This record gives sequence, structure tokens and C-alpha cells, in this order.
Amino acid sequence: MKDALTDSYGRAIRDLRVSLTDRCNFRCFYCLPHGEPPMSPKSQTLSYEEIERACEIFVSLGVEKIRLTGGEPMLRRDLDVLVGKLAPLKAQGLRDLALTTNGYFLPDQAQTLKDAGLDRVTVSLDSLRRETFDRMTGVDALDKVLKGIAAAKLAGLTPIKINAVVVRGYNEGEVADFAAFAREHGVMMRFIEFMPLDSGHDWSRDAVVSGREIRERIEERFALVPARVRRGAETSSRWLFADGAPGEIGIIAPVTEAFCGACSRIRLTADGQIRTCLFSTVEHSLRDVLRGNSSRAEVIEYIEGVVLKKEPRHFIDDPGFRQPARTMSFIGG
Ligand code: GTP
Ligand code: 5AD
Ligand code: SF4
Repeated sequence: MKDALTDSYGRAIRDLRVSLTDRCNFRCFYCLPHGEPPMSPKSQTLSYEEIERACEIFVSLGVEKIRLTGGEPMLRRDLDVLVGKLAPLKAQGLRDLALTTNGYFLPDQAQTLKDAGLDRVTVSLDSLRRETFDRMTGVDALDKVLKGIAAAKLAGLTPIKINAVVVRGYNEGEVADFAAFAREHGVMMRFIEFMPLDSGHDWSRDAVVSGREIRERIEERFALVPARVRRGAETSSRWLFADGAPGEIGIIAPVTEAFCGACSRIRLTADGQIRTCLFSTVEHSLRDVLRGNSSRAEVIEYIEGVVLKKEPRHFIDDPGFRQPARTMSFIGG
């Protein structure tokens, strides 16, 4: 294992999330309910060549996981070309190349992406009921997303993880149904607490369904046992079905059980800004450095300096908490 980039709290940075676009074809109310604000000019968006250069440098600095996100990353043209540029980094220390998507375009693209070298996908799926899905995402696309999950499975983009943000008044009554879905399809179903990262500023503590409540709701139907894995920097606590059925449950509880102490993540926005935390209120323009004729050594020095500014934790619980100006559609989860 390579030495890692290390922040000023001794946390090793092993996980880079690269947002490819701020655009999205969904309107999830917990993210982007009113659609995108005016886009930054195309010239500010990192090209595939720039992303490749940045990723190569991050991998040389010890990053082992790259996750492509958005907005909806599959809106970016010729995504397989980018995947094809990044996959060879596996010979240099990259272990995991993953994609987070709403799944809408997977029926057409899953196999192409697998062939280009993508390892696996994480698909957002907030409801198994057509009307609730529409209410939460703004589109009547449940069937399409379910087909996308099936296509990903067929293409071998595994292990497949499914993400549901659980929000009171919307889908908290479906938690056990989702667990049944995980058993039936042999996927890892992850439940995420609602975080204050929505452009509509509708977040409130009352709307958060805690990780504990999520587990209780599942256990009303299926007994769970903790998975025997070292949690490390993972976002989720992991659970298996006590009866040995396939599938797995992950509970991501950043609000009620913050996991910042073990955070290994850093983010690059589509317009080339490094964010050292989901909740950062400042950004660092790697784009300017990449476009400024900097040498490789200068880019590395810049990145090392930025990592040292990584926040110790989020401050959702602090009285002075300010929601970051950029929402999840820019940051990419
Ligand atoms: P893998 O374990 O590699 O599959 O990835 P992951 O667990 O990091 O999962 P993913 O990228 O799918 O993230 C799942 C969700 O967890 C995101 O959509 C966010 O809602 C939340 N999340 C991810 N990273 C962080 C983080 O650093 N801090 C907080 N507070 N939440 C996060
Ligand atoms: N709180 C928690 N998770 C969120 N996501 C988007 N917005 C929020 C939020 N406000 C998650 C989505 C998706 C991932 C990209 O980010 O569920 O899986
Ligand atoms: Fe890391 Fe910030 Fe997420 Fe905490 S909130 S886990 S510090 S990115």
C-alpha cells in the first residue's frame, strides 16, 4: 500500500469522488427540487483529459478508490471514454472504480461501462412505489430504474449498492419492503439519513429518520446480525439477515451517528474545485492550478496543502451551522 495523503488530524485520504456534471434529469426534493441554477460556463468544466491527469496524480498520492458522481454522471457524453482512461490506473494502485447514478440510463449503458473497465455501480432508489418515487424524484421513472439495476447486475457491475434517503412523511414506511428487495435481489440496500444539503432548504431535524429507527423498522420483519467486517472509513454500518438470506443492509447515519473521525474522502467538483468535506464552505481551485502550466510537483504540493485544510467533522449540530452554498447535485454525495 502506498503512503497516503494525510490531513492535519492524521486521517489518510484514500477515496476521491469526482463529480462530472452539475446537471441532473431528476428533481429529487432532498437535493435539487427546483432544478439547476444557471450552469457554470462549459469552459469551466474539467475535460476528461484534465480529470484523467488529476486522478493519476491522486492515485500516485495513495488514493485507492475513485467514485464518479454528479449531478447525474451519465448525462456526460461518452462516459465510457473517461472510464477507459481511468481504468488503467488500477495498475498503479487504484483498487476500485465505481459510479453513483440514478440508474435511468443504465439499461442502455451498463454493458458498455463494464467493458470500459468500471467495477461497480451504486444506484439511488428512494421508493418501490410508483407514486412515492415520482413524489420524491419528480419523475415517473421507477420501472426504468429497476430495469437499470437489472442491467447492471447482468453486466456484472457488482457488488451493486442501492441508496435510499429516508425522509419522514415520504418513505419511512417502506424500509422493511426495501429489506425484502435486498433479499430478493441479493443487493446491498443502504439507508441514508436526510442531510441538510438540499437546494430547497426544506431540511429539518423532524424529517430525519434516524439510523436506529431504520434498523428497528427492518427488525420488525427481519432479524439482523452485524456483518463481521472492519468498518474502517466506510460510511455505513453493515448488517446481514440472521436467517442467512442473500443481500445486505447498510445504514448511513451522518446526522445521528457521525463518522467523520475515520473520514478518508475528498471531492472534486465538475468545475474543478476540491472540497475537503461534504459540508465545506470553502473550495480550492485545482482547475486554476491544472490550467496554470503548473508542473506535476506543483500540482502535488497544492493538493497536499489543501488536504491539510480538511475540516475535522461536520457541524450540523452546532448552533452556528450554515448549510453549504452548493447542494448535493454539485458535490455528488
Ligand atoms: P462505497 O462504500 O465505496 O460503496 O461508497 P460509500 O459508502 O462512500 O457510498 P456512496 O458514495 O454511495 O455514499 C453513500 C451516501 O453516503 C452518499 O450519497 C452520501 O449521502 C453519504 N456520504 C458519503 N460520503 C459521506 C461523507 O463523507 N460524509 C457524510 N456526512 N455523508 C457521506
Ligand atoms: N441527504 C442525504 N443524501 C443525499 N443524497 C442527495 N442529497 C442528499 C441529502 N440531502 C444522496 C442520494 C444519492 C447520492 C448521490 O446522494 O441519495 O444516492
Ligand atoms: Fe468527512 Fe465531512 Fe463527511 Fe464528516 S461530513 S465524514 S468530515 S466529508
